[in-house]
Amino acid sequence: MTHKNQKSAHSLPPAAPDPSDADAADAPALGAILALMSQATGLDLDCYKESTLRRQVWRRSRALGLGSLQAYLAVLQADAGELARLQHGLLVSVSAFFRDGEVFKALRPALEALVAARRPGEGLRVWVPACATGEEVYSIAMLLGEVLDELGGRLDLRVFATDVDREALDFARAGLYPGAELAELGEARLARWFRPEANDHWRVSKALRDLCVFSVHDLTRHPPLVRMDLLSCRNVLIYFKPAQQAELLRSFHFALNPGGLLLLGKSESVSPDGGGFDVVDPASRLYRCTARPLSRPLRAMAGPLRARPAGPRAAAQPRRRCWSTRPSSRCISSARRGATSRCRPAMPIFRCSSCACPSCAAS
Ligand SMILES: C[S@@+](CC[C@H](N)C(=O)[O-])C[C@H]1O[C@@H](n2cnc3c(N)ncnc32)[C@H](O)[C@@H]1O
Repeated sequence: MTHKNQKSAHSLPPAAPDPSDADAADAPALGAILALMSQATGLDLDCYKESTLRRQVWRRSRALGLGSLQAYLAVLQADAGELARLQHGLLVSVSAFFRDGEVFKALRPALEALVAARRPGEGLRVWVPACATGEEVYSIAMLLGEVLDELGGRLDLRVFATDVDREALDFARAGLYPGAELAELGEARLARWFRPEANDHWRVSKALRDLCVFSVHDLTRHPPLVRMDLLSCRNVLIYFKPAQQAELLRSFHFALNPGGLLLLGKSESVSPDGGGFDVVDPASRLYRCTARPLSRPLRAMAGPLRARPAGPRAAAQPRRRCWSTRPSSRCISSARRGATSRCRPAMPIFRCSSCACPSCAAS
């Protein structure tokens, strides 16, 4: 399995993709390759920086000893396995526990403040989009567990972890990692949060795995989850074009409760004017969501409604689109009827009864 190979290779993606191999001559073949990839994976590759895509495509092409993208296109058309390998390369699903350790040191006091502000039994919700193979998710869950231990708190903690890469999510859900990858954790954490298994592998404890819900979610196509207290999206924005980055930051603001925390990768930041976030720790790219209302992100708006012809209904005040982790009976019945809509997410999240999408509005 590809992800297991990565675990032994210990390779992390570069901090920021650097444009290379820019060559207008390969543009038609590159376009055809990306179209093939989009068709096979459902990914909207238009949102990604072309330089990164081009670099990954050339990397695979050279690995096969091919000197042109036209030749590589022919291979891809004949070999589904190579298409999967290219997809894997484009998604760069690699991660590490407590990656950039100082970031987690800066996160800890901010988490302590979040926890201290809650009464026993209250909820605390975390979303880790683009979570890859789970290391970031479990690192945050461990840290929160340790903060709760220290403060003697009991909260209803939920960690939602999402990615487009199903194979990476399967790996993350299983929570089984080679010992070599856990060397930096220290003995206390290893003993507290992991159980030893065969061949120097360690499995994340059931208690920690039970806190974490892993699901498929495409940041470029699905609406954000909502009512989050912490959103950690690290080393992902750098792969997107600036307009898509701005759109994602708007959707992260929408996803967070006022006062909620946003953690980005070390090469990523919110827009220079803050964009609805205050800086908590600039070096760690830790931000706090302000209460100032922003316009809702396009992904959270009623796409189908925008396409409706003008008329009495279009003129009416649009109903608020609302997302929840619990289905309303109305949305379950829509799902049972096999209703489809552009805004139906591939996640265990459901629209509440005030949803305005055609499938819910019609029921
Ligand atoms: C470099 S990894 C980041 C892993 C982790 N956040 C970290 O910092 O260690 C990038 C991840 O982004 C995911 N990704 C890429 N495009 C995505 C999209 N449109 N929606 C959701 N996840 C995406 C990839 O599958 C990959 O797992």
